[in-house]
Amino acid sequence: MNLQGKHILLGVTGGIAAYKAPALVRELRRTGAEVRVVTTPAAQAFVAPLSLQAVSGHPVRGELFDPAAEAGMDHIALARWADLVLVAPATANFLARLSAGLADDLLTTLCLATAAPIAVAPAMNRQMWQAAATVHNVGLLRERGVHLFGPAEGEQACGETGPGRMLEPLELVTCCAGLLMASERLAGVRVLVTAGPTREALDPVRYISNRSSGRMGFAVAEAAAAAGAAVTLVSGPVDLPTPPGVQRVDVVSAAEMAAAVEACDCDLFIGTAAVADYRPVAAAPEKIKKSAARLTLELERNPDILAGVAARPARPFTVGFAAETEQLETHARDKLARKGLDMIAANDVSPRAEGGFDSAVNALRLFWADGEATLPLQDKRQLAHELVQLISDRYRSRPV
Ligand code: PMT
Repeated sequence: MNLQGKHILLGVTGGIAAYKAPALVRELRRTGAEVRVVTTPAAQAFVAPLSLQAVSGHPVRGELFDPAAEAGMDHIALARWADLVLVAPATANFLARLSAGLADDLLTTLCLATAAPIAVAPAMNRQMWQAAATVHNVGLLRERGVHLFGPAEGEQACGETGPGRMLEPLELVTCCAGLLMASERLAGVRVLVTAGPTREALDPVRYISNRSSGRMGFAVAEAAAAAGAAVTLVSGPVDLPTPPGVQRVDVVSAAEMAAAVEACDCDLFIGTAAVADYRPVAAAPEKIKKSAARLTLELERNPDILAGVAARPARPFTVGFAAETEQLETHARDKLARKGLDMIAANDVSPRAEGGFDSAVNALRLFWADGEATLPLQDKRQLAHELVQLISDRYRSRPV
C-alpha cells in the first residue's frame, strides 16, 4: 500500500479502542502518509497525547480555542490540509454529535470545515451500536456521504460478544488506501451524465413525463466527481441540489436534453435519464379546452440520445440504463446490442420491486458483451459509488 504524500487527519474519541490509535498512526506513516492527530477531551483518558505526538511527529491538537496552536496551523488550515479525515475510534456520542452537525469542539468543527472525505471507525458496546438512536445517526451520516469502516463483530472490552469492535489498525489502513485510491480512479476523465425525467409539453400548462426523481443520476454524478472526474450533469426538471464539484445544465424536454448532450464532449457517457420516448407532434399554443368527450393525442418519437452518443465517430465509453418491468436481462441485453453500448445498468421497476423510480434505494444488474455483475439493493448514493467503481474498471481496461 502506498499513501505517499497523503495527508490524514486522525480524530481520536473517548473509547477503550483509543489505545490502538498509536499503532494506527504508525501503520499509516509506514505507507508514506503524513498524519496529524486531534483528540477529544475524553480520548485523553485512554491514550496519552504525548504518545500520539511521538508516533505522528507532530503536536496533538485537542482544543478549539488554543492560541498557540491557532498561531501555527489554525483549525481551518488543518481542515484544508487533510486529504482524508479518519475518526478512529468513533464513539456513539461522537457519531450523534457529528450527525447533529455540532461544532462545539475541535474535531466536530474540523469535520464541518473540511472538504475532504470523512470516514469513521465505530467502536462501542454491541447494544449501543444496535440502539435505535445510533442506527438513525449512522443512517444520516451515510446519506451525507460519510464512509463507515466497520465495525467488526467479536469479543468486546465489556465482556459481551457482537458487532461494535473497531477494525484493526492494518484493516483501517487498507480501507483508507481504498478510499483515497478511489478518489483518483477517474482523474482526468470527462464524464457526462444525464439524469431525471423530461417533460414533453401538450399545451402551456400540461406535459407528458414520468416518475424519475433524478436521485440515481445525481448520485452517479456525485460518485464520478468523487472519483476525480470532471463531471457535467444534464438534468431534467428535478428538485435536488447540485453535487459538489459538478457542472450542471438544466433542461426540460428530450429535445433540449439531446441538444445539451450534443454540445458536450466527453470520454465517458452515463445515461441515467428517463427520457420520454415520444412527444406530442405539436404542443397546443393555448390551454386545451375540455369540450369533446374523447381526446386523441398524436405523438412522435423523440431522438434516442444514448444511441446518438454511442454512434459518434469518436465515441465515448457509453453506459446506458434500462428500466424494465419484465424480462430484465433479455430487454437489457437487447438495448446493449441495439444501441451499441459498452455497458448497461438494468433496474427492475415493476410494482413488486423495491427501488427504481422515485425511491431512495435501488438495485442494479450490469451487463456488457462478455460479462455481468449484480449490485444489491442499497441506498442510491452507496450504489452509485459501487457502480462508478465497476464502470471505471471497465473504462480503464477498454481496448484503445
Ligand atoms: O431518477 P430516479 O427516481 O432516481 O430513478 C432512477 C431511474 C429508474 C430513472 C434510473 O435508474 C433508470 O433506470 N433510468 C433509465 C430509465 C429509462 O428511460 O430507461 P429506458 O429503458 O427507457 O431507456 C434506456 C436507455 O436509453 C436509458 O439510458 C435512457 O437514458 C436512454 N434513452 C432513452 C430514450 C431516449 N429517447 N433517449 C435516451 O437516451
